[in-house]
Amino acid sequence: MSRTDWWRSAAIYQVYVRSFADGNGDGTGDLAGVRSRLPYLAELGVDALWFTPWYLSPLADGGYDVADYRTIDPAFGTLAEAEALLAEARELGLRTIVDIVPNHVSDQHPWFKAALAAGPGAPEQELFHFRPPSDEPPNDWVSEFGGVPWSRTEGGQWYLHLFTPEQPDLNWNHPKVREEHEDVLRFWFERGAAGVRIDSAALLVKADGLPDMPGSADAGEHPFHDRPELHGIYRSWRRLADAYGAVLIGEIWLPDAERFARYLRPDELHTAFNFDFLARPWDAAELRASIDLTLAAHAPVGAPATWVLANHDVTRTVTRYGRAEDTGFAFERKRFGVPTDLALGTRRARAAALLTLALPGSVYLYQGEELGLPEAEIPRERIQDPMHARSGGVDPGRDGCRVPLPWRADGDGPSWLPRPEGWERYAAERQAGDPESMLSLYRTALRLRRSFRDAGPLRWLRTDAPHLLAFARALPDGGTVLCAVNLGPSDAALPAHSELLLASGPLTPSGALPQDTAVWLRA
Ligand code: GLC
Repeated sequence: MSRTDWWRSAAIYQVYVRSFADGNGDGTGDLAGVRSRLPYLAELGVDALWFTPWYLSPLADGGYDVADYRTIDPAFGTLAEAEALLAEARELGLRTIVDIVPNHVSDQHPWFKAALAAGPGAPEQELFHFRPPSDEPPNDWVSEFGGVPWSRTEGGQWYLHLFTPEQPDLNWNHPKVREEHEDVLRFWFERGAAGVRIDSAALLVKADGLPDMPGSADAGEHPFHDRPELHGIYRSWRRLADAYGAVLIGEIWLPDAERFARYLRPDELHTAFNFDFLARPWDAAELRASIDLTLAAHAPVGAPATWVLANHDVTRTVTRYGRAEDTGFAFERKRFGVPTDLALGTRRARAAALLTLALPGSVYLYQGEELGLPEAEIPRERIQDPMHARSGGVDPGRDGCRVPLPWRADGDGPSWLPRPEGWERYAAERQAGDPESMLSLYRTALRLRRSFRDAGPLRWLRTDAPHLLAFARALPDGGTVLCAVNLGPSDAALPAHSELLLASGPLTPSGALPQDTAVWLRA
């Protein structure tokens, strides 16, 4: 725990509190549930936990509508419990990352309520983006969730919300907005948080005057995405974080690798999620291209890469890799009833786990991925994610990856989203005793990874088969660790090695690597 650069190669587990573990049996996950399962997380072998928002929230967007950053939602517990959890996690060698949502607040946040009460022209309204009544919305922007990102107050004024109407956007040109967020950072760093995950980190600043979208993609800066002013904000946050030895992790969806890397300059964010990797299909050339692009983009700024296979916004890995198309990319239109081969998806997800965990940098593991959970199809009448309603009922939304974790084979009691039929097979208690389970694979891989997580840079190995990805990383003792992944269509010979460390599935009788299988080797 004494390392200050732990984040450069950490394995970080994402806890979606509402669906992790339910301590009081009311159907909603809570901090008591997390505390009771900390030994499970320590045994899994991760280095840190990232908690999606656990603050007071009306849950219009699963907690990303925060009404008070300094209060834990009573459905989850209390601030004292959160403090106890941080301390207990630390005892077990687990650091804690909290989620900060600076782009918007809940419409139940005291600031927004005061702004509505004060009315047009009042200083309270300057913290948001209000516009006078008019027939048409003030500009032509489109919400990140689809539709118009403007709603009206009772008096007919417009206010901007890039997500749901219950998430009014803050005005980041206002000094009070900046001061408040730095104070929130201090609040959590003082309570021992090792870092923050910054939600929608590239959206905060809007162009002056909120102009319409430019006519074509290269017609100038985007009016609300990746604005140059953001870098000054993050430089200021970095000074603050450095004073506490804390890390800043950006949620940045940016297709341009070079612009993405600007956020990772030495005086800005420490790391940012790498969504390019997550968005690629199961294809050797695609994944290799993503790995090369990622490493090349990070190198000039000296930042470590991050690797993400899943999170609370995207289709579960075994489902995504079990489908012919549909990358399941966040905020991309999804559909009901897409044919899925779960056995295929599971084989690939196992191989993908070994690939991801062998790459240089840090890796994020979304809860339930270690159990190999598929995306659940939630009955329409039980869906709670606002993306479903906002798509006119076409998009199933993100609840399918947010179903509470199955701990016990005989059921875990009521839950806010129904547990799908047949999920006893995924129960953690059942998998714990099965050496062939996804859980056992993750446990072994995370334990082994500790011995090479700080190994040298990735060097691709020349292979005869274009569908075989193989790379080596030098170990301090003069050896090398190798990772080989066969993405098909035929068997492939293993690279020369002295020891087989781990395989995601059985090798062929002659010792070759079958399609959709990965191995870790030592040479
Ligand atoms: C981020 C979160 C997502 C949320 C959105 C708005 O993308 O990951 O869950 O809906 O921001 O806060």
